[in-house]
Amino acid sequence: MLTVSLAERALYAFVFVSIVSHFVYARWIRCWSRVHHPPGPSPLPLLGNVYQLPDGHKEKTMSDWAVVFGKLVYVSFFRTRVLIVSSLDVAQEIMEKRSMHYSDRPRLVHMQEMMQWTSHLGYAASSEDFRKHRKWLQSAFLAHNSLVKYRPIQLREVRVLLDGMSGSSSQFEQHLNRFIGAILMEVVYGYTVTSADDKFLKYGSEVMEEVAHAGYPSLSPPDWLPFLKYVPTWLPFGKYRKESERFKDLVRKMRADPYDYVRKTMAAGTAPSSFTSTLVEEAVRTNLLTLQEEEDIKDMATLVYGGGMDTTVSTLSAFVLAMVLNPRVLKKAQEEMDYVVNQDRLPDFSDRNSLPYLECIIKEVYRWHVVAPLGVPHQSTIDDKVRGFDIPGKTVIIPNLWAISRDPERYPDPETFYPERFEHARAGSIPQTDPRKFIFGFGRRICPGRLLADANIWLAIANMVATLDIGKARDSAGSEIEPRVESTSGFISHFEDYMSDIKPRSENAAQLIAAAAV
Ligand code: HEM
Repeated sequence: MLTVSLAERALYAFVFVSIVSHFVYARWIRCWSRVHHPPGPSPLPLLGNVYQLPDGHKEKTMSDWAVVFGKLVYVSFFRTRVLIVSSLDVAQEIMEKRSMHYSDRPRLVHMQEMMQWTSHLGYAASSEDFRKHRKWLQSAFLAHNSLVKYRPIQLREVRVLLDGMSGSSSQFEQHLNRFIGAILMEVVYGYTVTSADDKFLKYGSEVMEEVAHAGYPSLSPPDWLPFLKYVPTWLPFGKYRKESERFKDLVRKMRADPYDYVRKTMAAGTAPSSFTSTLVEEAVRTNLLTLQEEEDIKDMATLVYGGGMDTTVSTLSAFVLAMVLNPRVLKKAQEEMDYVVNQDRLPDFSDRNSLPYLECIIKEVYRWHVVAPLGVPHQSTIDDKVRGFDIPGKTVIIPNLWAISRDPERYPDPETFYPERFEHARAGSIPQTDPRKFIFGFGRRICPGRLLADANIWLAIANMVATLDIGKARDSAGSEIEPRVESTSGFISHFEDYMSDIKPRSENAAQLIAAAAV
């Protein structure tokens, strides 16, 4: 009998793999060369550009690619084709002007199918479900009369925030967390938070912490290789499934418990009007409260609560850090504030138009720390041409919002925190682009909570400016501690913990805070 040595077998295997790779690569190159894609780093056969994508801060690597290849970079991760857009003009051109063909989401295997983080996020923009949910969001978070209804809640919670913040040094994020968590809990579920240890708040923070650190949607290995969702937890690559199992439990509680609270209070006739109770009432009235409808309502309530929490906390925390690092800016804002509110009351929404410098600070915070550095990916639905390049249908579109915020042509000296760049009154210059044009995403998928988020952020920042001094913490020898300025990597980015010194800026301010907290 003919025997084949181990070395021969290895040789045959090597020849076989080489021939197959050669054909696959040649075919692949032929496909690529027939069409004129935007440039990008050289892909490897089969793997594409996976090996060039770092684990952390992908937005920075993608920015480097934009410097080398231009504002449109085309890459592939296994069979997933990705267009990275680092120009605001092009992002608006395709995701806003051609919104009809660029508003789907790619298949989100990791975040949606494995972690089960809300189905709305993945619906096609043309689907009935998507349209129905967008209508719900529109009337609750974009209609003027809805937003006005939330003001008493916002004004109450900002007082609690001031009370907590004055005297904080490193733990202030928990007060920011409570501020936004309490507003959203009441708006979404009609539930009043009475302590920072509230169990619903805790669910929300835990879930959002996981979401923030989970891989970026559509750039996580299970998104490229969906079979990974079946890999047993004890095998290599089983970690995605293991983490998802833990996360699924948290999401289940976050979806079910506050919803049950709403149903119970509705049955007892004590439920205040909320996003959830309004949807349930409407479904009961039209005889449509099926199990599926209940799941949809739960799903949307969780998405709204989750979508608003971490993003707002991260923005407000960036404001505090910016003030620690830029005492000049805080002082200038306080002078403007004193002129308007005269240190004898707290600012409220009616003061907004009278505080133009504060407005510039908020824009600069949005730009300086883009909380969702790569936004949320869209997907194209048709073969298209963009600026002379071919973009095939089903290409994942990633807007590199971080790169846009650092574009030196749009924002000279982009790393410097400089609110004056947005001033209208500066002689000889035009104000730079308002970052709200991109930080909330684009087109049909644009963030439906943007007006509520902006109102919460304005109110919190205005009240902090009016009453608090925010500076560097000192060590036991009395020397200032330089805060570290490093942001975390992931879907939602935060600054790493830093020390600060936050206290009432005057006796008057201390009395205002104390009186408001009663
Ligand atoms: C500073 C605060 C916030 C930022 C920076 C932010 C940013 C974003 C971004 C970039 C997107 C993706 C848009 C796109 O695909 O083009 C998004 C989607 C979304 N946001 Fe926000 N957001 C914030 C606050 C909020 C708040 C307060 C809510 C709820 C009231 C909210 C609810 C949502 C929802 C439901 C979506 C999904 C929309 C969809 O897929 O159709 N967000 N947000």
